[in-house]
Amino acid sequence: MDDALETRNGLPDALRVLLDKHPRSAWQGGAGLGGLTQFWLERHLMFRQLSGQISEDTKALVTGDAEPLEYGQRLARFGGVLVQQLHEHRGVEDAHYFPMLARLEPRLAAGFDLLDRDHVALDGHLATFAEDANGLLKALQSGALSGGEDERFAETMARLERFLDRHLIDEEEIVVPVLMEHGEGSLG
Ligand SMILES: [Fe+2]
Ligand SMILES: [Fe+2]
Repeated sequence: MDDALETRNGLPDALRVLLDKHPRSAWQGGAGLGGLTQFWLERHLMFRQLSGQISEDTKALVTGDAEPLEYGQRLARFGGVLVQQLHEHRGVEDAHYFPMLARLEPRLAAGFDLLDRDHVALDGHLATFAEDANGLLKALQSGALSGGEDERFAETMARLERFLDRHLIDEEEIVVPVLMEHGEGSLG
């Protein structure tokens, strides 16, 4: 079964046992969730908003509806925050939360392995994002987009946004049901 971040359309059935008991409709909006879980979901929302904003800005650049230097400043700022904050967020998940959650819910061990693989895959996509963003920023500074850097970056950004959203959805659908089942207090 192919469960790669780039090609899957959701979690495999074997990883949906707890999600069937605690469906997204029961926790969407934060009702009944502890403060830590709500904070964590808000980080995911921030990543979606930030990547969505960079995508919107980039579409406007490609269609000639954005002022290039202003676009470049926004890309440098938002892109830097996205990469830095995602790196930090993922580090805390890997080192702290996922090992504890996997111990709490051994039935979902394969789910945490899948999320680990996602993190490695996202590292690669973020490296491509940074490379293409820097290429675009250089071209903007030199005053010429002759190499199609804007369209290339728009494609890179669309891919990153799709993979990131896939990861965030599936991660939420593994992690939140575990916290609903065992309670935030069990994180110790
Ligand atoms: Fe993650
Ligand atoms: Fe996360």
